[in-house]
Amino acid sequence: MFNAKEYIKKQVSEIRKIVGNESALVAVSGGIDSTVCAFLMHKAIGERIECVFIDTGFVRSDERKTVKSIFEELGMKVNIIDASRDFIRRLRHLKDAERKRIVFRETFYYVLSKIAKERNHKFLVQGTIAPDWIETKGGIKTQHNVLSQIGINSVEKFGFSVIEPLLYLYKDQVRKVAMELGIKQLVKKQPFPGPGLLVRIIGEISVDKIKVLKDITKIVENELFGDQYFAAIVSDKCKEDKTITKIVSKKFEKQKIKMKVPDCLVTGVKGDLRAYKKLALLTIKNSDLFLPDFSVLNELQFEIISKNPDFTRVAYNITEKPRVAKYIILIRSITTRDFMTADVTRIPWDELTGVANKIMLKNKHISEVYYDITPKPPACIEYE
Ligand code: XMP
Repeated sequence: MFNAKEYIKKQVSEIRKIVGNESALVAVSGGIDSTVCAFLMHKAIGERIECVFIDTGFVRSDERKTVKSIFEELGMKVNIIDASRDFIRRLRHLKDAERKRIVFRETFYYVLSKIAKERNHKFLVQGTIAPDWIETKGGIKTQHNVLSQIGINSVEKFGFSVIEPLLYLYKDQVRKVAMELGIKQLVKKQPFPGPGLLVRIIGEISVDKIKVLKDITKIVENELFGDQYFAAIVSDKCKEDKTITKIVSKKFEKQKIKMKVPDCLVTGVKGDLRAYKKLALLTIKNSDLFLPDFSVLNELQFEIISKNPDFTRVAYNITEKPRVAKYIILIRSITTRDFMTADVTRIPWDELTGVANKIMLKNKHISEVYYDITPKPPACIEYE
């Protein structure tokens, strides 16, 4: 049985031994993992830490303000570093998910190593947890904060040693440590990935997509619920797919069925292996959109993905407008204990269509809104 009190005691003493008289840079995001790390570090070496929040350009609109106020409330200081131009310049126009993740990781550590060198910090502290390195080592995807576990020597490459006090914990254990440390306000906060909106822009990155997704994220985060819930964006450059339409037609004979597939891939996991595969966008309607029970949709996504090895995800149309537009929005909400597996949150359709209508009103360049109906596995929680 995990004992948070014991864990804190052991970590604090280990941190003291490792750091000695040196100082450490703590990379914080405002999420529970890195904030718990900052607290542990503060407990261990007091004012010899410097907390920094890197604005990568892929953070949510109010992220800087939120992080500042979380740290103020907790009685700690945080420096905000605006590196958004660097990140966007390096990532703009990239399409492949792994390429994007690797360029993000390199830029992230390049920025941190510059700060560490300037201020003479020998250590970097970050909130890596077990699923991060398990998925990276397993080849599922490159998490932005995994280095030594995949053979990258941070001292040689970036000039600092990395300390990861939560490396073997899962989210529910981190929450217990947070409660024990008295950081109650973050326990219910949903996770936000280090690469942020980067992994929610499916396919090619553009400045316009970042802007649109920031606006839509606000709506979705205000209105939806689940253990993690968010929006993603993809260009409306799709092809019809007749093979899958046939499978669906057998189940819903009287309805009109349309299946389209964007020209970029999404990340999933099949049989413990990475599956960078297609996304099926499904519309069923007669005159209006047809919104069946979630258990029916669950069977449907299972049938589509198991019979078609090229696919790893299915999303279901909840609103459309006959207009020529550039973007499609996907909404995802999952329920999970450890984020290693997840179910789709069964949000009532009227709530989902209400959110979708708000999204359509917000931006005239959006043609349709879909709800992701794929559990993990075979899909990942994030799109890339
Ligand atoms: P996936 O998409 O792997 O997500 O099913 C599992 C959990 O991890 C978060 N996630 C990340 N967190 N850096 C992070 O700090 C990353 O590169 C990253 N990728 C995914 C994701 O939001 C979910 O909570």
